[in-house]
Amino acid sequence: MEPKLLLLMVVEVVVLTVGAAASADYVRPPPRKTLHFPWTPKSSSYPQQVHISLAGAKHMRVTWVTSDKHSPSVVEYGTSPKNYTSKAEGENTRYSYFLYSSGNIHHTVIGPLEDNTVYFYRCGGEGPEFQLKTPPSQFPVTFAVAGDLGQTGWTKSTLDHIDQCKYDIHMLPGDLSYADYIQRKWDTFGELVQPLASARPWMVTQGNHEKENIPLLKDSFVSYNSRWKMPYEESGSDSNLYYSFDVAGIHAIMLGSYTDYDEYSDQYRWLKADLSKVDRERTPWLLVLFHVPWYNSNEAHQGEGDDMMTAMEPLLHAAGADVVFSGHVHAYERSKRVYNGKSDPCGAVHITIGDGGNKEGLAHKYKEPRPEWSVFREASFGHGELNVVNSTHAFWSWHRNDDDEPVRSDEVWLTSLIGSGCLAENSRELRKILSSP
Ligand SMILES: *[C@@H]1O[C@H](CO)[C@@H](O)[C@H](O)[C@H]1NC(C)=O
Ligand SMILES: *[C@@H]1O[C@H](CO)[C@@H](O)[C@H](O)[C@H]1NC(C)=O
Repeated sequence: MEPKLLLLMVVEVVVLTVGAAASADYVRPPPRKTLHFPWTPKSSSYPQQVHISLAGAKHMRVTWVTSDKHSPSVVEYGTSPKNYTSKAEGENTRYSYFLYSSGNIHHTVIGPLEDNTVYFYRCGGEGPEFQLKTPPSQFPVTFAVAGDLGQTGWTKSTLDHIDQCKYDIHMLPGDLSYADYIQRKWDTFGELVQPLASARPWMVTQGNHEKENIPLLKDSFVSYNSRWKMPYEESGSDSNLYYSFDVAGIHAIMLGSYTDYDEYSDQYRWLKADLSKVDRERTPWLLVLFHVPWYNSNEAHQGEGDDMMTAMEPLLHAAGADVVFSGHVHAYERSKRVYNGKSDPCGAVHITIGDGGNKEGLAHKYKEPRPEWSVFREASFGHGELNVVNSTHAFWSWHRNDDDEPVRSDEVWLTSLIGSGCLAENSRELRKILSSP
């Protein structure tokens, strides 16, 4: 073993031991109240709830809401303040939900953009100037990860901690606003996240709280699909509920836990097609996100991911997925590399990070004994950071919201499968699955 690696492992053991000792007398704080959003009058064409997302290579989608139906879907942008050298026009949509009718939701794709560059932009020809930074085209790249956000005092604490870290992209494995049919709560959520989501791309997938369906009256995901349009068209998918994107040597796949996933489904067919295009020379890391965890030793939501796991795990294993992030359970858990229910050096590391801070509180009860694959589990609010350093190494850390301080509570170096010899072995399996009709 290399001395450097040995040193890292020693450091890791020390850190984990210290972390475990600290958590022994750690008193978990109770849930916090839902935030109050005072109404402030704005002109009907004033851009609100601004957020951005990646939209294919070198492009970004800017989304915002105006109450005015005639306000243009135009974004002006440039690399220096107040000097907009480019302009793009997009589309807009609106929806109604019983007595509620949404504002106009504008989606405008801007680009081509330079990598790792700050842009200044303005929406709809008026209102404040926003600033965004495009992700780098090469390692290192950092992701902030937090699911099950909601809009409580804890959500605010989580977002403040994310704001303090240096990151390029936010990934959210489902459950955004906890609007739960109350549509104006989608608007307050948009307002809450705007300071962060207008500055760095938010790549999200949907959870049960996005469904909001009422049999015979309302389809699922009406609000989510209207407001959080993700690059599904850009990634060859015909549904906003599953898509993929590339960034700096990483291929990330966002799946839907609440849409069909069996081997005859559109989602499964799209996943096969998407995986057949992945080139691990170009994107050595393969990340996957979806809402309902497959490896979960919390009592909450036990077994809910089993059907999807049975359908899709063989495919993701054959494709050599490195890390799988999920939410749903309001707690944090990290597994060893696993496959088929047990440790497997060629499987993926599964991380449950559904602890963003929503109103439902934490999931405290864990199954005993702890399964052999579970490395770290704790019911606290917090967020994660994945710093992908190069093609083989990434540093993962989980930051607990210890009252109002972010405390680094779990951390580990992850190595990609690319250097492991697993991929050659798995690729035979993959070819077999891909060639079946
Ligand atoms: C605006 O930006 C362009 C291109 O970067 C530059 O040539 C021009 O001088 C700038 N104008 C002002 C007023 O700063
Ligand atoms: C990747 O990063 C790790 C951790 O910093 C380092 O030990 C390793 O040598 C790097 N590999 C390459 C090929 O640069």
